[in-house]
Amino acid sequence: MNVTRWGILGPGRIARTFAADIALVRDAELVAVGSRSSARARAFADEYGAESAYGSYEELVADPRVDVVYIASPHALHLEHARLAFEAGKHVLCEKPLTLSVAEAEEMMALAAEHDRFLMEAMWTACHPVILEVRRRLRSGDLGTPRQLHAELGFVVSYGPDDRLLDPALGASALLDMGVYPLTLAHLMLGEAESIVATGSLSEHDIDLDVAMAGRYPNGALATMSASMTSWSSRRAEIATDTGRIVLEDFHHPDHAFFHPYAVGSNDGAAAGATQRIVGEVPVIGRGFGHEIAEVGRCIEGGLKESPFVTHHQTLTIMRQMDDVRAQVGVTFPTTDR
Ligand SMILES: NC(=O)c1ccc[n+]([C@@H]2O[C@H](COP(=O)([O-])OP(=O)(O)OC[C@H]3O[C@@H](n4cnc5c(N)ncnc54)[C@H](OP(=O)(O)O)[C@@H]3O)[C@@H](O)[C@H]2O)c1
Repeated sequence: MNVTRWGILGPGRIARTFAADIALVRDAELVAVGSRSSARARAFADEYGAESAYGSYEELVADPRVDVVYIASPHALHLEHARLAFEAGKHVLCEKPLTLSVAEAEEMMALAAEHDRFLMEAMWTACHPVILEVRRRLRSGDLGTPRQLHAELGFVVSYGPDDRLLDPALGASALLDMGVYPLTLAHLMLGEAESIVATGSLSEHDIDLDVAMAGRYPNGALATMSASMTSWSSRRAEIATDTGRIVLEDFHHPDHAFFHPYAVGSNDGAAAGATQRIVGEVPVIGRGFGHEIAEVGRCIEGGLKESPFVTHHQTLTIMRQMDDVRAQVGVTFPTTDR
């Protein structure tokens, strides 16, 4: 397989984790970094072993060595930065959420199609070996029929008001930053939601700081999901089936899951055998980003324009759910909501 040569656009916090994981993936190489500042680009490139460092995103996307651009800027800028990459003929892996709204996501996908380039939202959860194995086991039926899912993700955001996590102009939103994960997990495990009801607490700047959602999925399965920028969530996810319970202690960074089987017909929850430890088919690479990095390489090598693990349809479905939740909790982004 050819080596996939990566360029990183926006060397901030998550780009560091991503760059560290590129180094762990065979057939992937970080070749260039683009920042608004040449000094930041150079420091990042030196730290993670990239040959080229550019003080502008335009220069990064013009580098002929770069096959695919990883967009790690704030989500309000993803569309603009993806456009830059596509117009320069690059493939794109774009951080989650793909954009602020479904309308912007559709525009980005249209640009990818127009330029005949690969595009994937960096929804690494959907490429994670433990998550994929839980889904496989669930679909096979040997963990029972899923009836209820619960997942929560959040942490106290203690950065200053200028940080992108709290800046409304950059898409600040607990839903967009954290809530996208519980929604994706429910989608992967239960299917496409039929409806979602939500409530939220907003900041004085109308950012959703806390969101709670309840979703109805095919066959009457239900999910409760939450996201928070004001509290330390457990990061736990549980899927209760009619024969037991799957537990992901940290569904955001799992290295295993447990399945606790229960005796059918027992009202007091008697165990029906030993707890099963579920691990992925392959060991988790680094912080877990290696799997999406390898998947992008596989797709580009095979001439695919989207990944079967993170289809455009799936991304649009979750974006549509988030548009709906935002409308319910009263959060709008002036640049995209009309
Ligand atoms: N996959 C995950 O687990 C995960 C985790 C966290 C975040 N994310 C996503 O990754 C994206 C970046 O998040 P982050 O936490 O890494 O953000 P961050 O630390 O603030 O980094 C964002 C980078 O974007 C660049 N940038 C370009 N225009 C900017 C502007 N107007 N204001 C601020 N920065 C600007 C900056 O780099 P230069 O100025 O040097 O170019 C900055 O370092 C977000 O979309 C977020 O949702 C994903």
